[in-house]
Formats: sequence, C-alpha cells, structure tokens
Amino acid sequence: MRPVLAFVLVVGCGGGSSTPDPDAGSAVDASDRPAGVGLCYSDAAAAHPATGAFLAALRAEAREVRVDRIAALEAAADELPDEEQVHLFLGLAHLWRLAAPLPGEDDLATQAASGFGARDHLARAYELCPTDHRIPAWLGPVLVQMGRAIGDDATVQQGLDVLDQGIAHYPSFVLFSKLLVYADYPRDAPEYQNALDAVVDDIDACALTPADPACTNATVPHNREGAGVFLGDALAKAGRRDEALALYTEAAEGADFATWTYQADLNARIADLDARIALFANADPDDDPASAWNAITQCALCHQQ
Ligand code: HEC
Repeated sequence: MRPVLAFVLVVGCGGGSSTPDPDAGSAVDASDRPAGVGLCYSDAAAAHPATGAFLAALRAEAREVRVDRIAALEAAADELPDEEQVHLFLGLAHLWRLAAPLPGEDDLATQAASGFGARDHLARAYELCPTDHRIPAWLGPVLVQMGRAIGDDATVQQGLDVLDQGIAHYPSFVLFSKLLVYADYPRDAPEYQNALDAVVDDIDACALTPADPACTNATVPHNREGAGVFLGDALAKAGRRDEALALYTEAAEGADFATWTYQADLNARIADLDARIALFANADPDDDPASAWNAITQCALCHQQ
C-alpha cells in the first residue's frame, strides 16, 4: 500500500558560488552551476563520519541501515548545528524513508514523522545556505504533498512558491521536481499538462548547461539513466510515444548504462512501450502501470552505485 503521505521524491541538481568556499568538499567545479547558486558544505561537515556513512548507504540502497544513519546525522546536527550539509542530509534521509519505506515504515505515524523531519531539516539547510537553490527541489514537493495530505491549501501554495523560487534560480535542477508534484494527476486533467511542460522545460534547461551536475552523472552515479525513466514515464503516460521512446533510448545508450542496476526496468519500458501507453489510455485507472515516481526504487534509480 502506498503511504497516505506518499511523497514523491524530489530531485535537483547543482551548486554554485557566492559563498566564500562554494562547493567545498565536492568534486564538482562550482562554475558548472548557474551564477548565484552555491553549496555551503564545509570540510568539517564533509569529513564527518555521519555524512559519509549516509551517502554510502544511499549509494548501496541499504535501507536497512537507514534508521541508524538518521540517528548518527541527528547526533552530528547537535555537534555541528550550523552546517548546511548535515541538515540537508538529515532532511534527505527522512525523505528517503518517506519515499522508499521498508515494510513496517509505511504507517501514518512513521510517514508523518518522516515528512516533518524532511521539512524541518531541509528548511534549516536553506536558511543556513540561501544560495543552495537545489533545496527548493526537495522542500517544495514535501510541502505540496504534505498540504495535499492534510487538505491545507496554504501549505500547498507555499510549496509551489518555494518550487517557483528554486526554478527561477536553478531551472535545470528544480524543474524536475515540478514534474513530480503533478505526475499523479490523471493524464487528461489540466494539471497533468504542468508535468509535461516541466519535462520539456527541464530538457531545454539542460541543453543550455550540459556540464551542470543537474544534467550529468558527475556527482550522482546514474542521474541521467534515472532521469530518462522519470521523464520518459511522464511522456508515456500522456501517450507521447516517440518522445518517450527517444528519452528511454538515450538513457539506454549512455556510457554508464552498463553499470546500472536497473537496466532490465529500462529495457522493459522500451520493449513494452505500446502496452504501457494502452494501459494508461484505457478507461480503467486501476490498471495503470507503475511509474518511476511511485516506485519504491525512486531514489535508487539515480543514486544506487
Ligand atoms: C533523476 C535522478 C535523481 C533521483 C530520482 C533522486 N536524486 Fe538525489 N540527486 C540527484 C542529483 C542530480 C543531485 C545533485 C547533485 C549535485 O548537486 O551535485 C542529487 C542530490 C542528492 C543528495 C545530495 C548529495 C550530495 O552529495 O550533496 C542526496 C542526499 C539525495 N540527492 C538524495 C535523494 C533521495 C533521498 C531521493 C529519493 C527521494 C533522490 N535523491 C532522488 C539526482 C536524483
């Protein structure tokens, strides 16, 4: 059963400069990100065992150690209360739990606690690093989904405003998340058009900044393969066959496809594309195929090494 707060995951990309030491601790050159975008990772936070161990767990898709990694990040946040990276990773660890719960973690109480944990630590990270305009890509959808779950329009609107703020600063990363907040609407609903527009706009944005980590596998091992599945799925749901096929095929032809855990999922998308489209097109929503944004592997598609 999908959790009530089924938060679709949030993605984004990049970090740039304007802080004294932009992208410290990252292999990515700050100049690859848009002007005015900058992470505030410090050597102390990057070298802390809690941040490294969390990232290693994400890359290993080791959901069984996630609760321990969250506890370690909480202790690190007490020790280093003003570090963006610690709060960001803590918020994203909660988001991972929300988006990809283990059996027994999909009850309402756990999901709500994860939602609040994600919201609070992502918001704190953005406060600590107002130039990390990736953060709206995660915080915006958390607020939108939380607002929808409790029927609070003001929170939904707050989430959409955060998303728009992020898109203004860092389109190639944050537009992806606009897809996520509209992807679950019926394909004929006017709102679904927003998801499709976000796909097209995101592709256009990356065409302008091809070296940005939002658009490459520079810091996330299978960002391009994973993104191809998400974007292709959005187009397939709308019946836009040729465009979906082009995205799936491009993802399957990338250099890093050979080392990707999810090759079979993408190959099946290509082989069964007409059947996938037909299931979305018929009158019965109950037989719609699963899409990337509601898959338990939604984070792992990009992050698993
Ligand atoms: C479509 C691919 C994709 C998906 C799906 C995705 N991410 Fe990411 N993620 C990225 C990219 C790209 C970045 C930004 C890397 C950068 O800025 O250098 C990122 C950044 C991160 C970071 C920060 C990494 C760092 O070293 O600073 C974490 C943690 C993270 N994502 C967790 C998650 C979680 C949890 C999920 C699922 C809820 C998820 N991601 C889903 C692509 C993805």
